[in-house]
Amino acid sequence: MTKLPPHKMPADEWDELHFPRPEENEFDRVVERAISRRGFLSGLVAFGSGAVAMGTGLLNSTSAQAQAASRFPFTPIDAQTDMTVHVPEGWNWKTMVSWGDPLFDNVADFDATNGVTAADSDKVFGENTDGMETFQIGSHEIIAINNEYVNSEINLPHTPDGVPQSAEDVRTLQNFQGVTVMEIAEGENGYAPVKNSRFNRRLHHNAEMAISGPAAGHALMQTSADSTGTKVLGTMGNCGAGKTPWGTYLTCEENFNGYFGGTATGISDTVKAGYDRYGLGDESQYGYEKFDPRFDLGQNPNEPHRFGWVVEIDPTNPESTPVKRTALGRFKHENAEVTLAPDGRVVVYLGDDERGEFLYRYVSTNPYVAGQPTDGLLDDGILYVAKFHDDQTGEWLAMTPETTGMEMAEMLIFARQAASKLGATTMDRPEWIAVNPYAVEAYCCLTNNKNRGVKPNAGGDDTAVNGPNPRNANNYGQIVRWYPSDDNHAGETFKWDLFVMAGNPEVHSDAYAGSKNVTGGNMFNSPDGMTFDSAGLLWIQTDGEDSNEGDYAGMGNNQQLAGDPTTGEIARFLTGPNGCEITGLCWSADRRTMFVGIQHPGGSWPAESGLPRSSVIAVKRDDGQLVG
Ligand code: FEO
Ligand code: CA
Ligand code: CA
Ligand code: CA
Repeated sequence: MTKLPPHKMPADEWDELHFPRPEENEFDRVVERAISRRGFLSGLVAFGSGAVAMGTGLLNSTSAQAQAASRFPFTPIDAQTDMTVHVPEGWNWKTMVSWGDPLFDNVADFDATNGVTAADSDKVFGENTDGMETFQIGSHEIIAINNEYVNSEINLPHTPDGVPQSAEDVRTLQNFQGVTVMEIAEGENGYAPVKNSRFNRRLHHNAEMAISGPAAGHALMQTSADSTGTKVLGTMGNCGAGKTPWGTYLTCEENFNGYFGGTATGISDTVKAGYDRYGLGDESQYGYEKFDPRFDLGQNPNEPHRFGWVVEIDPTNPESTPVKRTALGRFKHENAEVTLAPDGRVVVYLGDDERGEFLYRYVSTNPYVAGQPTDGLLDDGILYVAKFHDDQTGEWLAMTPETTGMEMAEMLIFARQAASKLGATTMDRPEWIAVNPYAVEAYCCLTNNKNRGVKPNAGGDDTAVNGPNPRNANNYGQIVRWYPSDDNHAGETFKWDLFVMAGNPEVHSDAYAGSKNVTGGNMFNSPDGMTFDSAGLLWIQTDGEDSNEGDYAGMGNNQQLAGDPTTGEIARFLTGPNGCEITGLCWSADRRTMFVGIQHPGGSWPAESGLPRSSVIAVKRDDGQLVG
């Protein structure tokens, strides 16, 4: 593998290089288990008649029936390998906002050669768009958008290879990330940001945030700058998102570890074990610590404990302070899918996107009651971790001081270790989770895991193939679906199946061909973003290998597909430009526009020349009808 500089490397590859996992030393046992799973796997992949427990529609539908029952409001498109966006016939797209676009009048327009000045860097749309949600506030349409990380060689074009040379460079990078909240409006040229709106706001790496919940104030959360352990500057690694029934935005902190560097000395065994599990220490990915001591582990060993949380933001109130909700646990959060139990308790599904890490669920103690205060709903509750059994049942294991033997705050700060103690199921990188609005079921993208069956996770947990993660060296990914018992998302147990196993049926004839709802016409790899629309279609976005060669031949660029949860049918809707991943999906208030994120595009996209710019596009039907 070519060695890329740290800031040009995907976070998972960087982690693997800097925090290598021990090789599996129980190879024989792994092989034995993989073989013993073959019977199950063949039934699973074929969705054959023998697989009696394989869920609802897939078993009973032939592809002809699926076609007849198709609810897709578009003609599927072919795979593409070029430098633009493709949508179906009768649909169109326009760029709504790109990295560096001004949010205020007194900010210079983007310079295609030099990018954005340091002075303007906190007053523009941020870099690397990811999860997002829209909010209607009176007559105002507001969008909150995550700006996950930076591509510093693009964002600091004046530096050698993107390596920050000064505190100002670091501050500029910090300003391009976090969350952008802004008002948008549709004019003659489509949707665009409303400059100077009072709602426009950048919540970057130095924005003030509060810490709440059981870990707030704990000694592990205290730093030289904050002896209370309740106030922190910034949110980072903002990956997926969520929206609460009470109208707030949830932003999820994922790859926070790459921002910290240096060597901590005199730390406790507990802190050291946390560094090892979460991939902290050594050289950082972005070089902050050379100019900003807050990110130097030698000076601030507790600072990383203040990241890796879900943060609640009130987009309706530009003066409000975002709150890190520690009851939801600390890990590399993907998204936060919020739903309600029949009794009104708040259920939040949460994934930890790292090879062999876990799937979590939070259940509030008190119910949500419209119009009543919501403050405690994400502070007071129980975190659970998923245990999947091979017989297609599963259970949620409660994480408490009693079950884990860990003190409450420590258990949440080191949620990974706590979940390991309970024997949770190691997963193939849980990315977005989506709850079906029309059926009591949930879906999680398990994007891929080249270490499955090869080496344990960072905590030493076995990663031999298991029920929902049935392929060794899983380079394609799958989507697991679960059905909560008693139609209750707060229930203790569930049944599960696989909605799809991605694969390449034109290259492989074994499990790597994928499940039967994958064909030469719709194949893809590495499902990542995922959400339901209001009509009940499941939208799937990919962040995978776009070489279009070898195992990936015929898949083309990263893409967005629609899935029918009833028939299992999957159809390709949109493809992105070379090099990008498709991230984030939400709809305008009138549901006539779909907003889609294009992260880290290649070339100069969306322009013909100059710096490439991560962007949010607005996708519509030519006839102006509803789009989800
Ligand atoms: Fe930021 Fe797991 O994707
Ligand atoms: Ca993702
Ligand atoms: Ca990514
Ligand atoms: Ca991903």
